[in-house]
Amino acid sequence: MKIIAHRGASAYAPENTLEAFKLALEMGAKDFEFDIHLTKDKIPVVHHDFHLLRTAGVEAEIADLNYADLKKINVSRHFSSDYKFQYIPRLEEVVEIISPAAEFINFEIKNDNNVHNGIEKIITDFIRLKKDIFKKAVISCFDYPSAKRIRLCDREVKMGYLGHSLTSLLLPIALQKAKNIEAYSFHINFKIAFKTNISKIHRAGLKVYAYTVDDFKDLLRMKENGADGIFTNYLDIV
Ligand code: G3P
Ligand code: CA
Repeated sequence: MKIIAHRGASAYAPENTLEAFKLALEMGAKDFEFDIHLTKDKIPVVHHDFHLLRTAGVEAEIADLNYADLKKINVSRHFSSDYKFQYIPRLEEVVEIISPAAEFINFEIKNDNNVHNGIEKIITDFIRLKKDIFKKAVISCFDYPSAKRIRLCDREVKMGYLGHSLTSLLLPIALQKAKNIEAYSFHINFKIAFKTNISKIHRAGLKVYAYTVDDFKDLLRMKENGADGIFTNYLDIV
């Protein structure tokens, strides 16, 4: 079962920062997940939220700032008030750090309402340019129109299906959408990763990765239910 470092070792270092990825490597991670946005000057960067309020206490959107200005903002404040300064890293920097050890890299594009116009091509081109990365890459996105654009940009890149507010009842619709984008994997909230749902997803030919599993009992349940992997903030969960 894959143990996927969710936003790096984010329980022990500020999420999605270089420190979080370095620590994940030290903790032995081989599988990684992170979130991607575009700055105003179209630089792909690794951060979860669209807005900087939660992580930095700053009233600004990533999409409205050029990278030179974004890099001056400390995003470790949410983690601890006395943690050393951490900037939002460029995608390039994160991939450079993790790629030698990585076996699986989940690039999660954040693009609700197409706020980052053109991000799909920028990221698929980025992955294509790096041959060793292409084999390890899985791209996912909660926004279905954006997921469809990713598939149009690259017919071969592995894709993970992600659906907002998914319930067991809505699973058949989600599976149809996953089929439409020729997904390789299905990323599911662990709260609805029941054995029956996982079996249905497997029967559709997809791997199942459950997020975000931070409790050992839930990890055991995911194993028992047949999940192929879990996303966790606590890499020492096992
Ligand atoms: O991709 C799995 C998980 O990361 C999705 O939720 O909000 O943590 O990006 P979120
Ligand atoms: Ca994510």
